[in-house]
Amino acid sequence: MRSIAWSNNYLTLLNQTLLPNRLEYIECHDWQRVAEAIRRLEVRGAPAIGAAAAFALVLGARELTALTMPEFKEKLMQTACALRQTRPTAVNLFWAIDRMLAVFDQLPGNTDTITAVTTLEQAAIAIAEQDEAVNGKMAVHGASLFTKPTAVLTHCNAGALATVAIGTALGVICKAWEQGNITKVFADETRPLLQGARLTAWELMQNGIPVTLITDNMAGWVMKNNMVQAVIVGADRIALNGDVANKIGTYSVAVLAKEHGIPFYVAAPSSTFDFTIHSGADIPIEERCATEITSLGGNCVAPQGVDVFNPAFDVTPNSLITAIITEYGILRAPYNQAISQLVQKCK
Ligand code: MRU
Repeated sequence: MRSIAWSNNYLTLLNQTLLPNRLEYIECHDWQRVAEAIRRLEVRGAPAIGAAAAFALVLGARELTALTMPEFKEKLMQTACALRQTRPTAVNLFWAIDRMLAVFDQLPGNTDTITAVTTLEQAAIAIAEQDEAVNGKMAVHGASLFTKPTAVLTHCNAGALATVAIGTALGVICKAWEQGNITKVFADETRPLLQGARLTAWELMQNGIPVTLITDNMAGWVMKNNMVQAVIVGADRIALNGDVANKIGTYSVAVLAKEHGIPFYVAAPSSTFDFTIHSGADIPIEERCATEITSLGGNCVAPQGVDVFNPAFDVTPNSLITAIITEYGILRAPYNQAISQLVQKCK
């Protein structure tokens, strides 16, 4: 099962909005279809969005080969600009687009458009391959935190579906499970779009890892009754001070974990760090449409016309985070210092 696959002419995406009821794939032959898939959450999860956007740029560039190089560049920038508008919070989207444009900018002045497309394609494939490789490293680092059989709680979906392969938080859980150090996983259902119920529970069951589904408002009671010994989640954007944006509800879980003395871990590749912002206050939080809250499975569950607030993400302050697992190792407070060192490693 792959959330994303590139096959020379087009991008195939596993339609995550239909899981777990239907396993259907979308063939994207143009960049606009990829942009639509990102907006609709057919492809979702920070690293998967980044890789999808990189391939979208390749699809866009392929339509431009008949143009002169200055025209090609102008249109490519317009496509990049449109892709940046699809979702605001996950920084991997911007990271991947910037990396693609940097590769393009480094081409020699006399490069023709066909060569430019080939180079962009290689860059997108490298982004996808790199995601799989870093997730493998992160899983090994993260699993080292689990030295005895542990029940863990996770929120949203930070699995293979949310990445090119392996996953971030779920990658760590799978590795620790292989090592005999996970007894079971509590998956928060993750209102309003149920990524925990639809995707995480499904992925863990596919992997034969015991999973117990709970609604988001049960997490505190599960902790109070000593049913979990650790929390591990993914991230959409991490500031220089270690504040972490992730799916709405993550902050509440972190507060609860602190109250119950339970370690709260975040697993994220370096591509999820935003080295340009100092704190979580600078992270743009996506707000989505009201119907995601007022209806459930197509049925209206709220009075017509009710006022709705629907932020898709929240920010967990660094003070609530026990450690951040990256492909370079495990970061601990003071995060400003640990993340400055990460900046150097990423250069
Ligand atoms: O709105 P989504 O489903 O794209 O949100 C995804 C998350 O919040 C994940 O936890 C995050 O991207 C980590 S993915 C490895």
